[in-house]
Amino acid sequence: MTTRIKHLYIHVPFCNTICFYCDFAHRVYDFSLAEKWLERLKKEINDNCKDQYETIYIGGGTPSCLSDEQLERLLNMIDPYTEEVKEYTIEVNPESLDQDKIDIFKKHHINRISIGVQSSDDEILRSLNRRHSFSDVKKGIELLKKNGLDNISVDLMYSLPGQDMDILRRTVEDILELDVPHISLYSLTIEENSVFGKRGISNLDEDIEADMYEYIDKTLRENGYIHYEVSNFCKDGYESRHNMGYWLYDDFLGLSIGASGKIGNNRYTNTRDFNRYLNNEYIRDEDLELSLEDQKFENIMMSLRTIYGLDIEEFNRKYDCDLEKEYSKGLNNRYIKIENGYLICSNFELLNNVLLDFMKD
Ligand SMILES: C[S@@+](CC[C@H](N)C(=O)[O-])C[C@H]1O[C@@H](n2cnc3c(N)ncnc32)[C@H](O)[C@@H]1O
Ligand code: SF4
Repeated sequence: MTTRIKHLYIHVPFCNTICFYCDFAHRVYDFSLAEKWLERLKKEINDNCKDQYETIYIGGGTPSCLSDEQLERLLNMIDPYTEEVKEYTIEVNPESLDQDKIDIFKKHHINRISIGVQSSDDEILRSLNRRHSFSDVKKGIELLKKNGLDNISVDLMYSLPGQDMDILRRTVEDILELDVPHISLYSLTIEENSVFGKRGISNLDEDIEADMYEYIDKTLRENGYIHYEVSNFCKDGYESRHNMGYWLYDDFLGLSIGASGKIGNNRYTNTRDFNRYLNNEYIRDEDLELSLEDQKFENIMMSLRTIYGLDIEEFNRKYDCDLEKEYSKGLNNRYIKIENGYLICSNFELLNNVLLDFMKD
């Protein structure tokens, strides 16, 4: 018997411009390349989508940089699998959001929007090669809300070159004024293949980074946000259901260039190479059969990322084991507690250290 997959991710590998920090799978948007990609994706969807999904996430790249007609065609391809969808998210960049795009989202029952903001400081935005200003963000969010699309998440970055505590404080105040129910928070990672990586830009001092994290965490919590996952905050009831699927270690199908998926003990990542993707059958760069031990460890690792933790009974049933006996070293870690049958990490900042105690020799 095959179990139903509840989550679908589709990667749109195009952006209007490439941000200096970013190394996700993307190319600068080109109409005819996007046409070829859509053709290829159609086949991939037909070959792989068999279920009705509870959550769908169209990410990127920048899905909103497709032309209206291409976006409509993409969503038409996904429509047959949306009958039971509860959360349907699309990522947008502020500068490519307008009423026509919003009308298309609504027509296809998209009900959650994730918008890349990063900072409210226009100078910082320029230094990252973002194409939008903070005033574009405000206009975009106003327009979404006017259209009844108020399940909005914003992406925010900190520990950026040129960002000091004053700039960060202003950004957090500006973000609070947007009054959105979900915020994802990322500390800048210098990716080797990004423009920053090639320019030899280095990270801010670790102490400043830690101060920034603590300030954002404290301020968002004081303003009614729940810090429900290492990098995510939400108002009550607005957790990302799609991402909760990853953290609960559910299976998910990932389609298109650079997407990852997990089905049973198989974890894969699709090629990032456009030519290989466009010219060949389904090609995966990584295609792993995970051992039982690896699955158990990954399940613990993902579940400890949220404040809800890991359901011990379900874990024992799923893997026919006794977690408390097998991982006694992990359980003795001072930042691990058991509450109502759930295993919980009480300090997100130290999660990586805590996980070392769950590794077997
Ligand atoms: C891959 S982007 C896709 C969404 C959309 N294109 C955008 O720019 O908002 C998702 C988010 O990842 C974060 N991100 C990308 N590269 C990063 C890096 N090197 N360090 C930290 N965060 C990064 C940014 O906050 C970005 O909004
Ligand atoms: S952050 Fe978003 S817009 Fe910028 S290059 Fe990465 S995927 Fe594209």
